[in-house]
Amino acid sequence: MDIFEGIHTRRSIRQFTEKPVARDQLIEIIKAGTWAPSGRNNQPWRFVVVTGAEVKKNLAKHTKYNFIIEGAQACIAVFADRSAMYSDVKDHQAMGACIQNMLLAAHALGLGAVWLGEILKKADGVRSLLGLPQEMELMAVVALGQPAPGEHTSQRKDVSEVLLKEL
Ligand SMILES: Cc1cc2nc3c(=O)[nH]c(=O)nc-3n(C[C@H](O)[C@H](O)[C@H](O)COP(=O)(O)O)c2cc1C
Repeated sequence: MDIFEGIHTRRSIRQFTEKPVARDQLIEIIKAGTWAPSGRNNQPWRFVVVTGAEVKKNLAKHTKYNFIIEGAQACIAVFADRSAMYSDVKDHQAMGACIQNMLLAAHALGLGAVWLGEILKKADGVRSLLGLPQEMELMAVVALGQPAPGEHTSQRKDVSEVLLKEL
């Protein structure tokens, strides 16, 4: 898939079929995340893959978007390792780039994915559910699966609305 085609056709997918996602594909998605740029190339990202029904059910309890997690075949919880960070802003920017790479990789593999941020309200609960130490800061949960049939549309402001100046 051409990179521009991927950027323009990726949509947040919130409904999935029951077909499982292969472990190889999950690893491929994580690998794409790790190829994001990061300040000083410090690569602060860490990942937890959740495919087990019981853990998935418990993870879902931490967000009002529980139905998305319950319906997903896999979730990848994405953490910033605070012990590897050097600048709050720059490291969080790198984490955003990592997550976007993951979404684009999932799309390129023909999978559907959505970036779940609302779950950050219960970040402590997620961290303890997954048995991680305090320095792991939850950035997002990416829910994944084969996209259920249906049309997915989205909109963007025109460039003319967001381009402030050309000097
Ligand atoms: C930081 C962030 C947090 C988000 N949190 C959620 C969420 O909790 N639940 C959800 O359904 N979508 C979430 N999304 C997805 C956005 O709703 C979605 O990207 C936006 O509506 C544009 O749609 P599109 O991705 O299909 O183009 C989040 C996206 C970002 C970048």
